[in-house]
Amino acid sequence: MQIRKLKNQEKPPTELLLLADPSLKLVNEYVQRGENFVAEVSGEIVGVYVLLPTRPNTIEIVNIAVSEHEQGKGIGKQLILDAINQSKKMGYKTIDIGTGNSSVGQLALYQKCGFRISGIDHDFFVRHYEDTIIENGIWCRDMIRLYQDL
Ligand code: ACO
Ligand code: ACO
Repeated sequence: MQIRKLKNQEKPPTELLLLADPSLKLVNEYVQRGENFVAEVSGEIVGVYVLLPTRPNTIEIVNIAVSEHEQGKGIGKQLILDAINQSKKMGYKTIDIGTGNSSVGQLALYQKCGFRISGIDHDFFVRHYEDTIIENGIWCRDMIRLYQDL
């Protein structure tokens, strides 16, 4: 498995990005503005993450996804650790990530990679997404915000 920056002329892996974020409008917007990285196995793109500067000295993983057939094999963890390293190399002091209150596995993964909870953006998903999101039998309405000092 190889992780590399997506080249400017390359098409972003939209199907993968939509696994992490159902809003095509938001995805297209931050992919344009952010730094996009992909994971490849035998020439096939199986993972992606997008880094977006948000505040002075702070960058955020705004999207991370692994192809369904490759999930649970450690690729997501490697992508998060790569995002932390890239952000450090770029000179950022803090890395943020946010996920839904219903994303139990993602919350586990991010904390295993060193992120700590900083706060809750109540009703974020109610305000920004038209459709109701249910995951693990839980209504996804709040965004759990996490951070890590670099
Ligand atoms: N309890 C405890 N640990 C858990 C749980 C749980 N319920 N669920 C997952 N984990 C742990 C696993 O044990 C593993 O940790 P380990 O290596 O210590 O055993 C880790 O979380 C998962 O690791 P990976 O196999 O590396 O993860 P994967 O390759 O499946 O990628 C990802 C994770 C990116 C979340 C993937 O499942 C995916 O693409 N999901 C759909 C899209 C998505 O939800 N993206 C995130 C949205 S938020 C955002 O984009 C900012
Ligand atoms: N992802 C999604 N859903 C989960 C997960 C997970 N990782 N883990 C549990 N659940 C869900 C189950 O699916 C189930 O929901 P469902 O009925 O919709 O399927 C529910 O959580 C568990 O339900 P029960 O079987 O009723 O729970 P149980 O009888 O095991 O009691 C308890 C839970 C009290 C936490 C028990 O496990 C326990 O005593 N644990 C040790 C003590 C403890 O941790 N207590 C709480 C500390 S905090 C406090 O005391 C205020």
